[in-house]
Amino acid sequence: MNKKEINLQYLKKIELIKKYNDHYYDKSNPLVTDQAYDKLKSEIEKLEIDYSFLKSENSPTKTVGHKPSKNFSKSLHKAPMLSLANAFTEEDLVNFEKKIKNFLTLKDKVKIFYSAEPKIDGISASLNYKNGKFYKGLSRGDGKEGEDITENLATIIDIPKVISSKDFPEEIDIRGEVFIQNNDFKNLREKFANPRNAASGSLRQKNSNDTKKIPLKFIAYTFGYERGLKATNQFDYLKKLSEWGFKTNPLNKLISGVKNLKANYNEIEKQRANLNFDIDGIVYKVNDFAMQKRLGNVANAPRWAIAHKFSSNKAVSQIIDIEIQVGRTGSLTPVAKIKPINIGGVVVSNATLHNEDEINRKDIRVGDTAVIERAGDVIPHILSIDTKKRLKNSKKFIFPENCPSCGSKTIKEFNKITKKVDAVRRCSSEGYYCDKISIEKLKHFVSKEAFNVDGLGKKIVENFWKLALIKFPQDIFKLDYSKIEKLDGWGKLSVQNLKYSIDQKKIISLEKLIYSLGIRHIGLENAKLLSKHFVSFSKLKNLSKQSDYEDLLNIDGIGETQVNSIKSFFSNEANLKVLNELEKVLVIKNTVQNTEDGLLKNKTFLVTGKLNGISRAEVKSLIEENSGKTISSVSKKLNYLIIGDKPTKKKIDSARQLKINIIDQAKFLKMLNKTS
Ligand code: IVH
Repeated sequence: MNKKEINLQYLKKIELIKKYNDHYYDKSNPLVTDQAYDKLKSEIEKLEIDYSFLKSENSPTKTVGHKPSKNFSKSLHKAPMLSLANAFTEEDLVNFEKKIKNFLTLKDKVKIFYSAEPKIDGISASLNYKNGKFYKGLSRGDGKEGEDITENLATIIDIPKVISSKDFPEEIDIRGEVFIQNNDFKNLREKFANPRNAASGSLRQKNSNDTKKIPLKFIAYTFGYERGLKATNQFDYLKKLSEWGFKTNPLNKLISGVKNLKANYNEIEKQRANLNFDIDGIVYKVNDFAMQKRLGNVANAPRWAIAHKFSSNKAVSQIIDIEIQVGRTGSLTPVAKIKPINIGGVVVSNATLHNEDEINRKDIRVGDTAVIERAGDVIPHILSIDTKKRLKNSKKFIFPENCPSCGSKTIKEFNKITKKVDAVRRCSSEGYYCDKISIEKLKHFVSKEAFNVDGLGKKIVENFWKLALIKFPQDIFKLDYSKIEKLDGWGKLSVQNLKYSIDQKKIISLEKLIYSLGIRHIGLENAKLLSKHFVSFSKLKNLSKQSDYEDLLNIDGIGETQVNSIKSFFSNEANLKVLNELEKVLVIKNTVQNTEDGLLKNKTFLVTGKLNGISRAEVKSLIEENSGKTISSVSKKLNYLIIGDKPTKKKIDSARQLKINIIDQAKFLKMLNKTS
């Protein structure tokens, strides 16, 4: 046997053991006897001993017996656990600061101080303390709801169980990172691919005695819900954390100015290899809490913080093939199948080539030798091609003119706003006509941020689709469970679990439903805006008149691109049928306005001209926080036109004609009981 054949044989065995593991640990439904399992395991071990080039992160020699279990009970975070936007370049940092200054209408020369905190690459956890006692510990989960891993967290020495300091808040969620130090990881190398996996695996052991055996550490850096916290800025808070007995990162610094942030970043990147814990960047947080509060969040990340990522890992490998994947929106993404290679502890065998233009620009061909880069949890991509190593008989890659899934013509759209032809080629078929698009739509429908159906992962969706068990979203709620029970790999228990998770999701918010439909250009943030606008499912479903669509343009944040996409979604019969069918099987909750009885309830606003010391974006958040609405043109629907410096005369004239209240900044702030 040559190397390639041995590797193939090895990977087959790895795949099989992974399947066995999934059934044993996740579905509590073993496929084979313990003896057969052990036999396969020792075959893999023997191969690895005989051939040292064989490696896989799914190898039983790399993973511990107990795979993460899905059986922890779930619990809602009192305040969501947000994620962070990424910055890679100095320019990204300049833009980050610019946006903050614009939002807060701060002059260019004003110094903003940031807490610069090395970003430990571990697993985040939220620790709830009540009256100084560690009460409950949750994993991040989807940010809204985490798993109750209190017992396992309680085994960590760095986590104080009782805090008696006088100034410790009555109740607080202390948040931070659980991780393993590199010196401790040395002894675990046999079992885990990297320290992060080790931390994650140990934290989710079924038995906390297993967690206890692993030297997990905890570093605290933020908080969620709190009652009685007396700190006015992040650095103050970090100081308090250590007074209360938590560990904080000794490399945290208070810095102002992008140049200084970059200098600190360079300095820490130099030290990176010598640190006793893995870091993948630096987190910058606006230090002042009052500023943080004004800045608020976008969909699921704060405006006041960003993660400045370190450069990634690279490796050289060969492109074996170029495949075209069809995405949910019909986009055709070329993917390079590469000779499997270990990049920073992860075996990589696929790299995205982004789009047709990228292939042409870099003249990427099958057989080429390429530099592949893997940065954090982003899909690996091709950085460059070594043309000197190009095979003599290699041919230019020709992008298909027809969709590889349904055969429809592929097109490149013209973007009216950027006035450029799109770099992405798309399948021109509509909705559910194309098989691949359908499958991707279904995967999106059940994904974490959408319906979040436990136990209905991508592979299972694909399998059910092939078996014609699910063709449209509504089919998920009408599954024939007796058929599934007879399928290979399924049993009574796993089917029961699946039914339970699906039934649980039959009650859904309008916001989630809109997002789940996978309308192009409608992501989480836009779904939220639309759900607030429509309030009920029936209003959404009856969207048909031209004026309904024009109304959408009044929503601040929704533009022509989104409206055109919504229009095209609703002009498709298949989509309308899906909506009708979903209505029959789901309970779709009306949108509840957060602070329904806020001071600006039922009032709409429009700003014209420049306000003093408060940006448009902040006015908008202020209005929304107080249950008001902003709209983007003067119409009968407008209640107040707020006038600043150099207003648009036309707006004032039309407002006068329509007898709309015209107010200045002071009057507006007075409505909110504010003076400045
Ligand atoms: S603050 C809203 N601070 O990075 C603030 N996060 O992508 C969000 N992380 O899930 C978290 N070090 O696991 C914060 N000093 C630090 C951090 C940190 C590491 C991780 C954390 C979070 C992820 C955000």
